[in-house]
Amino acid sequence: MSEREPIGVIGVGWVGLVTAAGFAELGHEVYARDILSEKIDALRRGEVPIHEPGLEELVAKNRDRLHFTTDMADVISNAQLLFCCVDTPPTYSGDADLSSVERVVEELGDSTDHALVMKSTVPVGTGRAIQRRRADVGYVACPEFLKEGAAVQDFMKPDRVVVGAGPESADFADRVENLYAQLGAPIVRTDVASAEMIKLASNAFLATKISFINEIANVSEELGADVEEVARGMGLDERIGPHFLRAGIGYGGSCFPKDVSALKQLAGNSGYHFQLLSSVIEVNELQKRRTIGKLQKHLGSLVDREIALLGLAFKPHTDDIREATALVLAHRLMGEGAAVRIYDPVALNNAGDMLAGATTCKSAEEALEGADAAVLVTEWPEFRELDWAGTVKDLMRNPLVVDGRNFLDDEALRAAGFTYEGIGRPAASAVEA
Ligand code: UGA
Repeated sequence: MSEREPIGVIGVGWVGLVTAAGFAELGHEVYARDILSEKIDALRRGEVPIHEPGLEELVAKNRDRLHFTTDMADVISNAQLLFCCVDTPPTYSGDADLSSVERVVEELGDSTDHALVMKSTVPVGTGRAIQRRRADVGYVACPEFLKEGAAVQDFMKPDRVVVGAGPESADFADRVENLYAQLGAPIVRTDVASAEMIKLASNAFLATKISFINEIANVSEELGADVEEVARGMGLDERIGPHFLRAGIGYGGSCFPKDVSALKQLAGNSGYHFQLLSSVIEVNELQKRRTIGKLQKHLGSLVDREIALLGLAFKPHTDDIREATALVLAHRLMGEGAAVRIYDPVALNNAGDMLAGATTCKSAEEALEGADAAVLVTEWPEFRELDWAGTVKDLMRNPLVVDGRNFLDDEALRAAGFTYEGIGRPAASAVEA
C-alpha cells in the first residue's frame, strides 16, 4: 500500500475528475479545483457533469475525501503534488493552445515546495520551458492514457504509467510513482521530453493503425475481401495485435485529431516534415465523406432524401461530441440537399446549434420513420437491439442501411430485405458472384 498523501487536481474535466475520483478511491485526500463555479457547485451536490460509466458511483462513494473548490489557494495549502489536468485544445494552425496551462503556472504564485504533475497533453518541450521559468517548483510529466467511456477502468488498471522528470525533481517523481504503485502497472521512468513524446507518439500510432485499416477496408471493398476477416487474421500476429483494427467512418474525439495534428505541427516547427501523419489525417477526412458516395450509389441524388443518422457521440458510452464524425456527415448531407434526422441516447443535448438545420429525434424509431436510408455512426449497443426486420423495416421508406462501424448483423439485415453497406465488407452480390 502506498503512503497516503494529499493530492491537488487542477482542472476538473474528463481527465481531472477521473484522476480525482481515482486517487480518492485509493485512499488519498483530493483537493480538486476548477475555475467554473457552476461545475464545482454541481460536484459538491454530487452531480457529475459528464457521462462516463462508473464515475458517478466513484464520486459518490468517495465524497468525504473529495474536496471541490474554485480557489487555487485551497489546493496549494493542502497538497504538494498538483496534477495539472486542464485542456490544451488545438489552435487553427494545429498547434496546441497552452493558455490554460500557462494560467496554472502563473497561479502557482510564490509557492516553492510544490510540484506540477503534468497530465494535460502538451507539446514536447513544454516541460523544459516551464522548468526554465519556475526552477523553484518541481516538474513531473505524467501523461494520461485513459479512454473516454472506459476511463474509470483505465485509471484503475492502466497498461503502464509514465513518469518523466529531471534529476532536480526526482523526489517528487518518486512520490508520483508511489501513488500509482498499488495499481500494479509497469512504471516507465523517463526524462520529461521523452514522457511528453510517449503520449503524442502513442496517440499518433493508434490513429495511424485506424487509418491503415480503413484504407485496407476501402481496397477490400474493391477486391471482394472482408476487412473484418482481414483484421482478425492480422491481429493474431502478436507483433500487430488485435486492437485498433476496427474499420469505420473515421476516428474522432478530443484527442486523436488534436494530437496527430499537434505532433505533425511540432515536427514541422522543428524543420521535419512528418509525411506519414499528413496521410493519416487526410485518410481520416476522406473516410468520413465516403458514406455520402455509398448513399448516392443507391439513391442517386440526395436532394430531399430523408437520412437517419444513428448516433452523434464520437464513440459509444460517452456524450462527447468533439470532432464527432456525425457532425461532419450531417453537414455534408445537408449540403447535398438531404434532410437529416438524428438520434443519440445521451449526446444530443451537447449539440447546441451545431446541428442547426437537422431534426433531432427522441428515439431511433423516430429518426428512422420515413427514412430513405439509415446511417449507423456510433456503435451504441441499443442500435443492435432494434427490431430491424419488423418495426424498423416497416418504418423506413426505403430499406437501405450504411453501417459505419460494421456493427449490425449484415446477414440478418440482408435476409430481412435490407440493402446493407458496411465498411470494407463485400456487397452481397459480390459474395454470391
Ligand atoms: C484516445 C486514446 O485511446 C487514449 O489512450 C488517450 O488517453 C486519449 O485518446 C487521450 O489522449 O486523451 P479516446 O479519444 O477517448 O482515447 O477514444 P478511443 O477509444 O481511442 O477512440 C478514438 C476514436 O477512434 C473514436 O472515434 C473511435 O471510434 C475510433 N476508433 C477506435 C476506430 O475507428 N477504430 C478502432 O479500431 C478504434
